[in-house]
Amino acid sequence: MTRLSLMTSPSFVLRGLFLLGLCAFNPLPVVIEPATAAEPPAFTVSARVRALLAQMTLEEKIGQLNLQAGDKDRIGPFISKETEQAISEGRVGGILNVYGAEHTHELQRIATTQSRLKIPLLIGLDVVHGYRTIFPVPIGQAASFNPDLITRAERVAAIEATSAGINWTFGPVLDLGRDPRWGRMVETAGESPWYAAVLAEARIKGLQGERLQSSDALLACAKHFAGNGATEGGREYTASDLSLRALREAELQPFERAVKAELGCIMPAFNAVDGVPGILNQRLLQTVLRDEWHFKGLVVTDHGAIAELPRHGVAEDMSDASIGALTAGVDMDMASQAYSGSLKSAVEAGRIDVARLDAAVLRVLAAKEELGLFDNPFARSLASREQEKLDHKDHKALAVTLAGESLVLLKNENALLPLPPKGRLALIGPFATDRDNLMGPWEANGQHAKVVSIKDGFARVAPHLQLLLAQPDKEGLYGKKQIAAALQAARVADKIVLVLGEKAIDSGEASSRAFPGLLPDQMALLKAIKTLNRPFTVVLIGGRPFVEPELYTLPSAIVHAWFPGSEGGEAVARLLTGLSEPVGHMPVSVPRSVGQIPITHDKRPTGRPSLGPPEAFMSGYIDEHTTPLYPFGYGLSYTRFTYGAPVVIGASDPASRFYKIQVKVRNTGPRQGVALVQLYTRQRVAPLSQPEKQLRGFARIALQAGEEKDVLISVAREDLDFWLNDTQKAKGSGWFDIMTGPDAGETQTTRLFIPVTP
Ligand code: BGC
Repeated sequence: MTRLSLMTSPSFVLRGLFLLGLCAFNPLPVVIEPATAAEPPAFTVSARVRALLAQMTLEEKIGQLNLQAGDKDRIGPFISKETEQAISEGRVGGILNVYGAEHTHELQRIATTQSRLKIPLLIGLDVVHGYRTIFPVPIGQAASFNPDLITRAERVAAIEATSAGINWTFGPVLDLGRDPRWGRMVETAGESPWYAAVLAEARIKGLQGERLQSSDALLACAKHFAGNGATEGGREYTASDLSLRALREAELQPFERAVKAELGCIMPAFNAVDGVPGILNQRLLQTVLRDEWHFKGLVVTDHGAIAELPRHGVAEDMSDASIGALTAGVDMDMASQAYSGSLKSAVEAGRIDVARLDAAVLRVLAAKEELGLFDNPFARSLASREQEKLDHKDHKALAVTLAGESLVLLKNENALLPLPPKGRLALIGPFATDRDNLMGPWEANGQHAKVVSIKDGFARVAPHLQLLLAQPDKEGLYGKKQIAAALQAARVADKIVLVLGEKAIDSGEASSRAFPGLLPDQMALLKAIKTLNRPFTVVLIGGRPFVEPELYTLPSAIVHAWFPGSEGGEAVARLLTGLSEPVGHMPVSVPRSVGQIPITHDKRPTGRPSLGPPEAFMSGYIDEHTTPLYPFGYGLSYTRFTYGAPVVIGASDPASRFYKIQVKVRNTGPRQGVALVQLYTRQRVAPLSQPEKQLRGFARIALQAGEEKDVLISVAREDLDFWLNDTQKAKGSGWFDIMTGPDAGETQTTRLFIPVTP
């Protein structure tokens, strides 16, 4: 058939008419102009701060931009003589990694009595998921789908950290966790940009409290801006190639929400996006952050990031690097000592705009004023308050609750769980009695000796269970001897629980893994236990979904426990014995194999979709499925729920800022439980193909056995907009699929028509 005859064939004409029809419903999108957001109230620069700036020498200004460790090699109550001297000479604006009321008091005393201008210090620490009470790691918290509880946990973290003199945290982490190879997935809220934005706001509310002036408020520093989780191959600190449009669609969402929530500080990412490392990215730091979002807070580098610029190949030397970072919009230099070493000569040589330097200094001073440090630098360093706030029983109770809600029941054949509270339980595996790993990779001032291990948890909540332990060797490994002992314990036990996973140091920063599965000795242990031909449970400890097919097929029951925190052992024991219900859901998809990565619920459609096993000439692999092993949002309960189809309520109101979707949920199982109804959307036809599913809402609902309720979920109108290109956003319009269900893999669909509104 010639091209001409194709174009005049009846089917072509019909198709043309059909397309014209579609266009009638989907005319060219209405574009929303960016930079229209109202300016969020952030730091104001007071007359006091301006007067202070006017008195400062060039050296003192540069000093304010210098953030250095209290002691080069240690974190905690340590201050070196060099640091003391630098503070007294006005060469330091902030200190990191010193904690404790007494030591932070001393730091502030030196700054406010010995330095010429008596300027107090910012004192920062990575309070990523708790200070003394360590809550589950962020990805575990995200599994709770309980933003209010997360706000309360962050409030506790702030109360504890501020009682020890900390006024600034390098958190929350707002990167997306879309690649299980990347170690820092553990610090994220998982793969959904929309959900990460919801939690960004929840965390900032908790950390910063109602007013930064309060002595229990922490200045939050969202990181790592931006695209840090999108590094190639999941390799830490590696570059990624993303257009600004792609960043806006995903990575920038939580940061934008954080700025709206009055975030006080941002930390650019180490890695390069489109060839530009975070601290040199003027488009992000200036155009997006300052011009569009009107961010007024502080920008601080990541640890030693300026010093790394020459290695990226984008700066000749430290001086070049410092000038580049300051010019791009970086206010403070963390740990490179680059600004202190080179800005003076750069100013003197006319290589730096002094107004830019002054603006950075003003922001540091304004942050200090906002925190109330000029009025009372010691408010957060009271030993009596520290003693009262640390190890508080209410904080521990909250940690047990949040850890409990973070646990995800992935499998429970023949209702193996919950376990009976009596009898003999073989408790086996490297993390069964462990106190060194349950807190995860960021433990701030958590105390290993006080961690509630899983064994301790059982002893607390099920004292009538007789525990039969089979410990690993001194290295935490199971060799032949240890496996034989484990088999022996399992044989005589009534029930068997294996606690497997990865160590805290094998997750987190600089712990990317090409094989994100279990170590070979743990697989050998698992297979050996399977030879007994008895049902057993696996509890997984770790900061990522493990990609290890047999791990999921051999056991009868599996609970993903993440790093559950300092009180985590109690939460795990409560869940396994049925004292609490499983309510957690996976905030990430679990791949079947490493080759599927990245695999997320919000992939774009293809012209050749393949859902099931490999099919010829369809999108996917010839040797692997295209679906994940467990979809995003997956999580079982000890009861069962049935979900009705979604019903749109009041769809026709074009003025509405929200659409309301109703879903009937019924508890058809034997006991009470909490269902999580998830809502996904997709614009069916748009100028840019839209992801197949994007999480846009959820609701948790508690139901007694046999009970049925209607659940209402609101979808914000503006959440349906999408980025057309780097600078233009389009209003969502036309037909949308509204999909609801227990996870991204099992949804029912209705349609919603959204008329074009100017
Ligand atoms: C990490 C940051 C952290 C900083 C200070 C860096 O290596 O990337 O997330 O805040 O160290 O500890």
